Parts: sequence; structure tokens; C-alpha cells
Amino acid sequence: MTITALSRRDVLKGGLSAGAFAGLGFPAMAQQALLPYGAALYRPDLDADPRLGVEIAKRCQRVTPVNELKWNLSRPASGQFDFAPGDAIADFARANGLAMHGHTLVWYAENPDWLASLTSAAAAEREMDDHIATLMTRYGDVAQSWDVVNEPIPDVARSPKARRDSIWRRLLGDDYIGLAFRKAHAVDPQALLVLNEYDLEFAIEHSPAKRAAFADLVTELVDAGVPVNGIGIQAHLRGGWPIAKDEFARFVEDMRRLGLQILVTELDVMDQDLPRSITERDALIAAQVTDLFEALWASGPVHSITTWGLTDKFTWVKWAYPRADGSGNRPLPLDEFYAPKPMHDVIERFRRMA
Ligand code: XIL
Repeated sequence: MTITALSRRDVLKGGLSAGAFAGLGFPAMAQQALLPYGAALYRPDLDADPRLGVEIAKRCQRVTPVNELKWNLSRPASGQFDFAPGDAIADFARANGLAMHGHTLVWYAENPDWLASLTSAAAAEREMDDHIATLMTRYGDVAQSWDVVNEPIPDVARSPKARRDSIWRRLLGDDYIGLAFRKAHAVDPQALLVLNEYDLEFAIEHSPAKRAAFADLVTELVDAGVPVNGIGIQAHLRGGWPIAKDEFARFVEDMRRLGLQILVTELDVMDQDLPRSITERDALIAAQVTDLFEALWASGPVHSITTWGLTDKFTWVKWAYPRADGSGNRPLPLDEFYAPKPMHDVIERFRRMA
């Protein structure tokens, strides 16, 4: 009998762990361990095009609410919750056997006006605790991973100690991050608690400094015993910006050494400055995603890959970063007619490297 004919059970009985087996590169096992893939979903898009839900159910294992859990949609007033938007995504996930990735509990942006009227640390902590406990409890059956704090580092990090300003930081100081994670862990000790950030991967502009500040923050949190379990690489890739392949790979390895899982949480490619030619543009996008993934996978597989949408038909890039030449943006794995593009094939290839 050749070793490739061994069943998983034989391998386990024989004392070889499944991990060791997969690590030897046997294709049969590697396929079984396909990495989970997810897409972010915005409820109005689901209503606008029934095919979107069908394709997500077919292609995804995970789904992230785009806006539904943000405070401006979920918190009409202090002590009040509007669960309807979040429930719609959670129910979609439940009905289709998908995991929901909770996005996002504490953020500087997309907050309702009433939050700005809080004036004391005690009031801020009370609101934050109530929010975390209520949402994590309500969706605990379907959401086992959460972006607990989103975007804690400013775009221009002037030192490794730079932290982004927010209502939370103004009232609670930098401790707001640790407080949020500790609360989340107390509510659901099994949940995977994630610190999520963008612009961590590039070789140019403000990205290296942002990466250094993010690494400093994560180290500080882990050293202080804060229950952070993963980092979310948003990966809103800026088309044409080179990935810092070696430096970013080292950063990811450092994060793993701290015991953290690596999640790709919001992948898309802002293609407003890329060539008009679709073939050329799609190839550049696929190459940039490949560079990112090679750096990410250099120290091992990631936890999951989520794209910020599924099809170019529904994407924030369309209105946030439109192309001057009027040709449609192509930031996502499927085109506007749901046909897979080269970026899709890159994702599928790396999913097999579990
Ligand atoms: C974006 C949504 O896609 C938009 O619809 C919304 O108006 C603004 O937020 N990083 C994040 C996401 O963590 O929540 C953002 O989503 C994109 C950048």
C-alpha cells in the first residue's frame, strides 16, 4: 500500500497528526483542508439581486456584515438596539450554514451622533460593555469570530506608539482596546477575537510606519495578557502599490510567534489608477493579490480569506474610488455578471494551501 492510499483514520491511528501529514504535502489531505472563504454582504444588495445570496451560499463558508452591526445602524440611542439589519445577515448565515464574522464592535467611525455626547469614562465603558455583551450574545450561535477593535492606528503613524484618536480613546485612553477585548472574552471565551487594520502590507507611503505601530500595539496587548486571538489584515489593496513582500512576511511571522491567527478580512483591489484594459488590469490585480498571499503564507496558512463583497456588481470601490475613464471598477473575484476573474483563481489556489 502506498502512503497516499492511507485514510485519515489510518494516519491518526498510526500516530501521525493530520497536520504533519498535510505538512508533507499530500494532495488528498491538502484538499480536505481547503481554507474557509467568505464575502462581506450588505443587506440592501441581497434584496436588490437574489442571485447574490445564491452565489454566496454556493461559494462561501463565511459571511461578514458590511455595515449592519456598526453603531450607526445598530444603536439608535443609548440603551437601544436595532437588531433588524444584523438579524437579516445572521439569518442568512444560519439558513445557509455559513459562519458570520462579527464586524465590528468598537471603531472610531460610523458612530451615531449621540455617542459624541458621552462625557465620562464610566459612561463610555458602560456603553461599550453593553454593546459588546448584547451583540455577542445575540449572534453567538452563528458568529464565533469578531473584529473587536477596528482600525486602531492612524494613517500617518509618526511613532510606533501612535494610536488613532476616537471617542473611545478620548474618554477611556488607550486602555479602551484592552477593555474591549477583555469584555468580549468574558462574554464568549470561545470566540476568536480579532484586531483589524488596513494599509499594513505595502512597501511605500505610510504603510511601513503603520505596520510598525500596529506590531507595537499587538505586542503591548499580548504582553499585558489581553485576550486578542487574531489579527485581521483588511487588505483593501491600493492598485499599483508594491507589497513589502519580505518585511510584511516577517511582520506576519512575528504575529504568529505571539500566538495570533492571521485572517484576511476585507480583501479587494482599488483599481482606479490601473490601466483601462480589462485583461491587463485583471492580471495586475491577480499579481498583487498573489504577492500579498505569498507574504502571508510564507510562515504558514491563514485562518480564512474574506473579500469585501463577491461581485464587482456590488462594491464600495465603485463609489469610493471610481475610475476617471468611466469604465467599471473590478476589485472583486467575480465580475458584475458573476463570472470568475483571475483574482478568483488566485484565491482558490491559496485556499488549497491549508
Ligand atoms: C465600508 C462599507 O463598505 C461602506 O458601505 C460604508 O459606507 C463605509 O464602510 N474598512 C472597514 C469597513 O472596516 O467597515 C469599511 O466598510 C471599509 C474599510
